[in-house]
Amino acid sequence: MQEQRQAIQRLDYTPPPFLIDRVDLTFELEETNTRVLSRLVLKRNPAHPDAGAPLVLNGEELTLESIKLDGKTLDASEFALADTSLTIPTLPDECILEIATRINPLANTALSGLYVSNGNFFTQCEAEGFRRITWYLDRPDVMAKFTTTIIADKTRYPVLLGNGNRVDQGQMDRNRHWVKWVDPFRKPSYLFALVAGKLVVLSDRHTTASGKNVNVEVWVEPGDVEKCHHALASAKAAMKWDEDRFGLEYDLDTYMIVAVSDFNMGAMENKGLNIFNTKYVLARPETATDIDFDGIEAVVGHEYFHNWTGNRVTCRDWFQLSLKEGLTVFRDQEFSSDIGSRAVQRIGNVRTLREYQFPEDAGPQAHPVRPDSYLEINNFYTATVYEKGSEVVRMIYTLTGKEGFRKGMDLYFKRHDGQAVTCDDFVAAMADANGLDLTQFKRWYSQSGTPRLDVEGVYDAAAQTFTLTVKQGCPATPGQPEKQPYLIPFALGLIDRTTGAELPLTLEGETVPGATSRVLELKEATERLVFTGVASHPVPSLLRDFSAPVKLDYPYTDDDLVFLIANDTDPFARWEAANTYLTRLLLQRYQQESGSNAAPTQLVAAFDKLLTQDRLDPALVALMLQLPSEQFLFEALSDVDPSRLHAVRQSLKQSLARELRSPLLATYQRLHSTEPYVYNAAEAGRRSLQNVALDYLSELDEPRITELLTNQYRHADNMTDKLAALSAFSQREGGDQYLADFAAMWQDDPLVMDKWFTLQALSDRPGALARVQQLMNHPAFAMTNPNKVRALITAFCNRNLASFHAADGYGYAFAADRVLDLDKINPQIAARLAACFNRWTRVEPKRRAMMKAELERVAGQPGLSSDTYEIVSKALQAGA
Ligand code: TRP
Ligand code: ZN
Repeated sequence: MQEQRQAIQRLDYTPPPFLIDRVDLTFELEETNTRVLSRLVLKRNPAHPDAGAPLVLNGEELTLESIKLDGKTLDASEFALADTSLTIPTLPDECILEIATRINPLANTALSGLYVSNGNFFTQCEAEGFRRITWYLDRPDVMAKFTTTIIADKTRYPVLLGNGNRVDQGQMDRNRHWVKWVDPFRKPSYLFALVAGKLVVLSDRHTTASGKNVNVEVWVEPGDVEKCHHALASAKAAMKWDEDRFGLEYDLDTYMIVAVSDFNMGAMENKGLNIFNTKYVLARPETATDIDFDGIEAVVGHEYFHNWTGNRVTCRDWFQLSLKEGLTVFRDQEFSSDIGSRAVQRIGNVRTLREYQFPEDAGPQAHPVRPDSYLEINNFYTATVYEKGSEVVRMIYTLTGKEGFRKGMDLYFKRHDGQAVTCDDFVAAMADANGLDLTQFKRWYSQSGTPRLDVEGVYDAAAQTFTLTVKQGCPATPGQPEKQPYLIPFALGLIDRTTGAELPLTLEGETVPGATSRVLELKEATERLVFTGVASHPVPSLLRDFSAPVKLDYPYTDDDLVFLIANDTDPFARWEAANTYLTRLLLQRYQQESGSNAAPTQLVAAFDKLLTQDRLDPALVALMLQLPSEQFLFEALSDVDPSRLHAVRQSLKQSLARELRSPLLATYQRLHSTEPYVYNAAEAGRRSLQNVALDYLSELDEPRITELLTNQYRHADNMTDKLAALSAFSQREGGDQYLADFAAMWQDDPLVMDKWFTLQALSDRPGALARVQQLMNHPAFAMTNPNKVRALITAFCNRNLASFHAADGYGYAFAADRVLDLDKINPQIAARLAACFNRWTRVEPKRRAMMKAELERVAGQPGLSSDTYEIVSKALQAGA
């Protein structure tokens, strides 16, 4: 089992031996036997160290038919064909290769390369899927001009889409037709795309700032057109936003989005032809929740923004993935903040970071934002590369300011448009445009682990000073025992304890009083910040707006936190005070052998005030009232007993529901509306508080509450409210009739059925695992569909902690069995599921031993994919 596989190293980068100027592709599409003709115009790369290097093309699961060099067929002695490479040892400095290949799209269940979904053809080429279509230099620093000719049966595949502009089309023999696409922009192979099938379009036009007309199109299966309006509106809003905020216009005549129900990730930014998981396209108020609407807006924005940050300027190699992903997540977060509620967006992003990225950074798969090595690049589309990568870009934004950041972006495009570059190039553009030295800052790209800030505050009444001592450190992570100090933008304020007023922040030595909120730069392992002219002992408001992705510890008293909940003007810090209070309380209760389960009166009073008196945005109140998730609490503990953690959290929730019954009910009644559904930030905020109140109330076993739930379930005109009620029922005795009713109603809508699967996967009621196993036989479930796997299996393993970690170990055995099943179908999805074992060293010893045994069972499986192998072998090393 201790097999060793060869990792790819960042520092081994060498430029490609050849460059490809043009690629002309012709596809003869057949489900089980597609022919791909590729004509490559090649030339030797002067930047390669060896002028006589052979050409080594990548390929996977391809059947080679023939190769021609400059028109002459090569015989078998003139090339070397191996499993994943095709080597041509001697080539002139400039030449044309024509390669004919056969592939079987119908057998492609990995959903990488060319595959069939619901009878239509789709491609997914990032990161290394193009090599499953034809032999190629499948690496992002080889940028070529592509033309694509698609030939297919015109009855079965009336729509044929490719990258760029459609230039020609015609009829052929045997009921076939063809379409030719030309992409005028150079691109790496990972941005190639093709779609063919029975699709219909919803379209609109966008006129750019410079007056160009762009067709904006959303392509879906017939019957789904009326679910495309939100995606289309989001695309138009994204185009406008990128012009306004970054001066970036779209560069082709048509921007296409195509929805597919079998897809490994959220969506893909192929040039001019973005391919989306249906989850991020299809929405109607009756089928999609506010969260789905938010998600569509964010993902449509994200993929559209890639056209500049990713496509026009791309990555030199896959270690630079965050160059495009971190920056594009930052851009989509800013887009959502500008068109919705900035505070709600920020808190949501921080919650995601803490729930997914902090555990990654503290576990066996920890890696820097710019990783140093990998076995399988698909495993590095992570929360660290995306979400922490975005936080790193956001810190640059905080350091440069809005205008400085824009100058940096302008310089980045001026220098690198049309190139494949590195994270260093991005930082250099930001530094040069702003006259900044970002040398120390760059440790955020190279060091893994979440830094800690330990802060103490001392008030000196006589000197009227308040001194903060800030110590930074970062725990050891795999391969990185020691860390150097980071440059940390540290936003803070000081609040007068008696008046609640924000105090001016004047540092020792400064002559004029400073602003009441400032960003200071921490550079040393220990920093002392002395504020002068502080008339009374203040409460510090620290790490405002979450100015850096760190864990902060300050010895607040409970009274301080309650004070901040009521007084902090920074919405993030205000929410954070509530979160800190609740986290502390739950962790204490978890650790005490016995003790009270009742909610502290101070907390009840604070929540009561939020519900009844404050005029805060309902969306913020909703966020403040929510208890920290079990996943988040888990991270703060060791030797965890997940059932106990679940019980402690549940009992606080019930106690709060009892104590706050009347203000919760009043809030529910005040916010509950029978007006027709509208999606906007204010309405979504209202619904979120209404449904948080309902969620608490549903803990009360009263006919009055059951009636409330029944009413909401029956009469809601939208999925947000319907699902909130159904979710409560799914946790209650007698909820099955509602689940059955819902399934009968929505059995033909796969995305709605995903919600139904997830509710049951997350149920607290006994027998959740048996239920999940039974649901795998439901006609709406399919192991080949990643959305179904995520909705049912991944949801159970990652989010139903009490059942996944059941003391009998059946949850672990189930997860390992499913990883092994999936590994044969779709290694990317198998590897993602396998990550549910990452925290095995953190559970109590009995469970730890069982988790380890399952990991070993998976790791020992002969023929395991490199995807799954990398995850489980790294997880096992963590316990070594
Ligand atoms: N580049 C895509 C994005 O972030 C991610 C992606 C889509 C992807 N499909 C994939 C990555 C398949 C790896 C494999 O928008
Ligand atoms: Zn992306």
